[in-house]
Amino acid sequence: MRFKFKLLSTNSLFNHNTSLYKNLSMATQTLNTSSTQNPNNEFNDDDDDRLCSAAATTSQEGEATQLFELKRANGYLKGESRIERAWAHWKKLGEPKLIVAPMVDNSELPFRMLCRKYGAEAAYTPMLHSRIFTETDKYRSLEFTTCKEDRPLFVQFCANDPDILLEAARRVEPYCDYVDINLGCPQRIARRGNYGAFLMDNLPLVKSLVEKLANNLNVPVSCKIRVFPNLQDTLSYAKMLEEAGCSLLAVHGRTRDEKDGKKFRANWEAIKAVRNVVRIPVLANGDIRHMDDVQNCLDETGADGVLSAESLLENPALFAGYRTAEWGLGSAGIREDGKLDQAELLKEYLELCERYPVPWRMIRSHVHKMLGEWFKIQPSVREDFNKQSKLTFEFLYDLVNRLRELGVSIPLYVKEIREAAASSNGHVA
Ligand SMILES: Cc1cc2nc3c(=O)[nH]c(=O)nc-3n(C[C@H](O)[C@H](O)[C@H](O)COP(=O)(O)O)c2cc1C
Repeated sequence: MRFKFKLLSTNSLFNHNTSLYKNLSMATQTLNTSSTQNPNNEFNDDDDDRLCSAAATTSQEGEATQLFELKRANGYLKGESRIERAWAHWKKLGEPKLIVAPMVDNSELPFRMLCRKYGAEAAYTPMLHSRIFTETDKYRSLEFTTCKEDRPLFVQFCANDPDILLEAARRVEPYCDYVDINLGCPQRIARRGNYGAFLMDNLPLVKSLVEKLANNLNVPVSCKIRVFPNLQDTLSYAKMLEEAGCSLLAVHGRTRDEKDGKKFRANWEAIKAVRNVVRIPVLANGDIRHMDDVQNCLDETGADGVLSAESLLENPALFAGYRTAEWGLGSAGIREDGKLDQAELLKEYLELCERYPVPWRMIRSHVHKMLGEWFKIQPSVREDFNKQSKLTFEFLYDLVNRLRELGVSIPLYVKEIREAAASSNGHVA
């Protein structure tokens, strides 16, 4: 299979019609619950620890509720028809292949929109905490914003309680194309909260989370998993998820212990094996750093699309065929483009942030990621940036200008073939 992607010109992609980009703040437009458990609607880091910390148990009452719901859903999306529906939905979305992975504090609306402008065909929100999402207005309005053009969209939750997960999912289902369950977070906070990859130790609970959503939501359920050290375990896990009602599976080809993406290569063989045992669409994740990786990964795994995370943070134009010096400099057939660089991308990102406000911590993080190499050449500019306890857009635009005035210029690179193909048919092989 040869994958083709559309060439995206850097100035023709956005229609800056602000009315179209109206921010749908979930808190103001759709979510009206006041919390009894958190009357001040305040969110702080301690909530993170509390989140999901109660081990999920199935009470008799819970079983009765679930039986009722299963009965209600009886005959709905069983076996073949569920698989067919999974594919019909995927096709209706245009079978997106180039997808922005979920990233806490980093795959927020303006960043998703930037990546979409440069070739991303779908995107995940950052992981949202299902319990806090159901309890706290402020958390909802700050952490989940979207707009009409922000589709196809996966909204990702972590959870360990099926009822709470369903309540959270119901709030977002009108605004997304999949509700996704995070089954891959390997961080300490996830261990303490008993969610993410730590649910790999409690597969009956995972099954109940998926079933709950699959039997009660109008949008399909997707799951993002890590692999087990043992391939057979991974394959049984994937099949269990499919049987429970998962309509799309994103597989990160690293185990729970392989936290460092730079140190451990993703296991594309395992992703291929999963692709071959399940019948729902499968997305491959891990080590997508430029478009050659996309092509190789799709070829090697047979996956239906790819997710990219870390590399997109550095280079949000990755899916439009641009690559950083690390993957371009000195390689045969690769040349400087000259039309686009990370400073330009950052300015576009800032403009999007002005239109779709997000917490400054997210903006701060993107400045570091996009300008990391630029700061290495002028560390004093980074120091000045780090000193700012309060940021403003004015300061940030000026920061970009200062780097340019100081002579810093780091190009992005493209493949020669891109230009030739572009002039002939607007597509690249
Ligand atoms: C800053 C950052 C935040 C992340 N947050 C999430 C998250 O919220 N949910 C999730 O499932 N994975 C999260 N991940 C993992 C990525 O989605 C992805 O699985 C991982 O980085 C491997 O992809 P890569 O090799 O393209 O970086 C995060 C990764 C990064 C770098």
